[in-house]
Amino acid sequence: MRIDVVTIFPEYLAALDLSLIGKARRDGLLDLRVRDLREHATDRHRTVDDTPYGGGAGMVMKPEPWGAALSAVSASAAPSGRRPLLIVPSPAGAVFDQAMARELAEREHLVFACGRYEGIDERVLEWAAEDFEVRPVSLGDYVLNGGEVAVLAMVEAVGRLVPGVVGNPESLVEESHSDGLLEYPVYTKPASWQGREVPEVLLGGNHGKVARFRRNEQLRRTAARRPDLILALDPSTLNRHDRDT
Ligand code: ADE
Repeated sequence: MRIDVVTIFPEYLAALDLSLIGKARRDGLLDLRVRDLREHATDRHRTVDDTPYGGGAGMVMKPEPWGAALSAVSASAAPSGRRPLLIVPSPAGAVFDQAMARELAEREHLVFACGRYEGIDERVLEWAAEDFEVRPVSLGDYVLNGGEVAVLAMVEAVGRLVPGVVGNPESLVEESHSDGLLEYPVYTKPASWQGREVPEVLLGGNHGKVARFRRNEQLRRTAARRPDLILALDPSTLNRHDRDT
């Protein structure tokens, strides 16, 4: 998978050299390129922002550097059938979730345009639709100072779904949100710690009972912490035992 990130703070993305995503880059599974928007500014001060038309607080990102940066990304894209997906992190976007992560993991080429200040001149998004499929995406209903932190989260969530990035693909199956429920609690040795015992059923080696215990914990936890997820469940994914829980 190819990923381009355009930002005025390339150093923010240094964390993508670490851990599983860093290894995936070194292994050639992720071709991740970070570009400095200021390299596409044309004045001596490498200006990327200006005052908003119509007035108001803050500054707006100028269209020209974005036009040049996105043209450079387009020019270096593989000449494949599908347009790259241009993701614009913004609190005004559709909310990112595991279903979206799965969808993005199927794409060949993702481009992230990190806005700062009050955002990017709207005409950039309209113009970019000629070469990209453009999608504003929000990490959640709160406001960050810019798109970089959202990109770190999205690249990690998407990158780990790319085949080969997570060594044991089984670990992707039983985690939160894979089946619409939160994950079950986990324990390791010692069996007794600070007077607290690991649930007896996990020590017994009865796989059927362990599976039932874990499923019950998933249902209980989800109902307590995220009742919205229980309401959104497809009833056909529940079995007879689930209904008794
Ligand atoms: N930029 C600022 N706030 C954001 C958010 N909530 N999600 C994505 N990008 C953002």
